[in-house]
Amino acid sequence: MIVDERIVTFINSLDTKNSEILETIESEALAASVPIIRREMQSFLKTLLMIKKPMRILEVGTAVGFSALLMSECAPEGCRITTIENYDKRIPIARENFRRAGREEQITLIEGDAAEVMKTLEGPYDFIFMDAAKGQYIHYLPEALRLLPEGGVLVSDNVMQDGDVIESRFAVERRNRTIHARMREYLYELKHNDALVTSIIPLGDGVAVSVKRDSGPTDSVAADVNLAECGAAEEIKRQEGTENGKTS
Ligand SMILES: C[S@@+](CC[C@H](N)C(=O)[O-])C[C@H]1O[C@@H](n2cnc3c(N)ncnc32)[C@H](O)[C@@H]1O
Repeated sequence: MIVDERIVTFINSLDTKNSEILETIESEALAASVPIIRREMQSFLKTLLMIKKPMRILEVGTAVGFSALLMSECAPEGCRITTIENYDKRIPIARENFRRAGREEQITLIEGDAAEVMKTLEGPYDFIFMDAAKGQYIHYLPEALRLLPEGGVLVSDNVMQDGDVIESRFAVERRNRTIHARMREYLYELKHNDALVTSIIPLGDGVAVSVKRDSGPTDSVAADVNLAECGAAEEIKRQEGTENGKTS
């Protein structure tokens, strides 16, 4: 756990319940040791969705469909969700969960390896939730960038890897070194890629929220900005004049 356990317990104690079907699916998933988003991440995701109001969501990593269902409940009406999963045993459970929740029309589950499936998608998706194999995020990024429109939001979960990511590679178990290096590379890319503005937040197991930048003002927009700046300068001068007892 990367955040003080008492802080997490306190924050989660303030949480209100999810819908009955989500509570049931969460309990079933936890009982079967299926990894699903943590309570504090659920609340963060809901808040982001209420701000962004996406109409097309892409999720990478369905598991048994818990987070896809959670997103379907707080996205705007008409929002479509596409979710990708490659683990045979989880796919029928996810499909059944979408049916139980009456959301099978809204959520499309695509079976297969995310790296391959993402290449076949057309997009745009104005919200992408990355929650699959952590060592693959860096490989998914070019496709995620292609699929995101300007202003689109990319949320990447578990980026702190239980705190391992801040350690030197020699302090990390040998078998985790590749994933450690790839996650560091991924975080560097999220922060340094000119197309993105990213904040890395120590919530849950670490979450990165990235927004795709506008590609820049066209000449006419730039000219408008300059004019607006000139207007602002005039207004400041006018106000200074008023404060000094002059009137315009
Ligand atoms: C953390 S779980 C997803 C949890 C889910 N988002 C939730 O909170 O309810 C990650 C899932 O990604 C799937 N996964 C891992 N690598 C994948 C890949 N290359 N392509 C598709 N799915 C993958 C795993 O099988 C696993 O079910």
